[in-house]
Amino acid sequence: MSAIEDCQSVLKSAHSLFVLTGAGISAESGIPTFRGKDGLWKNFSAYDLATPEAFQRNPELVWEWYHWRQSIILKARPNRAHLAITELEAIFEKFLLLTQNVDNLHQRAGTKNILEIHGNIFRARCLECNKIINHQIESEGEIDNLPRCECGGLLRPDVVWFGEPIDQDVWQSACCFLEQADVALICGTSGVVWPVAGIPEFARQRRIKTIEVNLEPTPISNIVDISIPGKAGEVLPRIVEGLK
Ligand code: OAD
Repeated sequence: MSAIEDCQSVLKSAHSLFVLTGAGISAESGIPTFRGKDGLWKNFSAYDLATPEAFQRNPELVWEWYHWRQSIILKARPNRAHLAITELEAIFEKFLLLTQNVDNLHQRAGTKNILEIHGNIFRARCLECNKIINHQIESEGEIDNLPRCECGGLLRPDVVWFGEPIDQDVWQSACCFLEQADVALICGTSGVVWPVAGIPEFARQRRIKTIEVNLEPTPISNIVDISIPGKAGEVLPRIVEGLK
């Protein structure tokens, strides 16, 4: 039996599916991942762009970087992997997608039950009153005026930066769902950023079947029950095809 057939057989007897995604799921839409040879962290410094201290030092620079990333995402479209996940949502009685991505592509592909653990690049949060608003780039390039809230406070991207805690409600909801799930499908993540990196072991200890889809071996590959090498946009549609 091939790994894909193995995976289909596990999914056919499941009622509740937990899906975890990372930047690799959006790679085929043309959105750069973080690690790997062309990854964002190879060319940009997380310390200068994705920490609360970086924003304090130079909010213009941070906003320019986030607007640049928005502009790439706005030109992109959901790919076959995002669409396959939407199909999985329709097949399973119970379904939850936990994504580390901030790009909104799962929503644009039509998936409904989504938790975003690292926020969303198209939202901003006021540093004064904490109000969260939708925020989309008007034009690329240098920032003349920093984005501000109606209260006058400075807005920051509503994403999780290095050194910041994740939203505990989101994390608890994801763990509650995962505990009851039959299968955890983990796609396109390097599996090195905590707390998400702990999910495969959390699932294994609870005898939840784990499946990984990734272009390359990761630290997760040795923990999961089934590891499928390949592009998410090719592998996931093949898995879904066999479930219909
Ligand atoms: P990474 O960039 O660390 O990892 C992307 C993973 O996707 C790698 O394991 C690749 O092998 C895999 N990959 C690339 N293209 C693929 C494809 N077409 N199909 C399948 N797999 C593919 O991204 P994340 O794991 O999402 O956090 O990174 C986790 C977090 O680290 C991000 O949310 C971000 C980053 O720093 C914050 O900014 C807080």
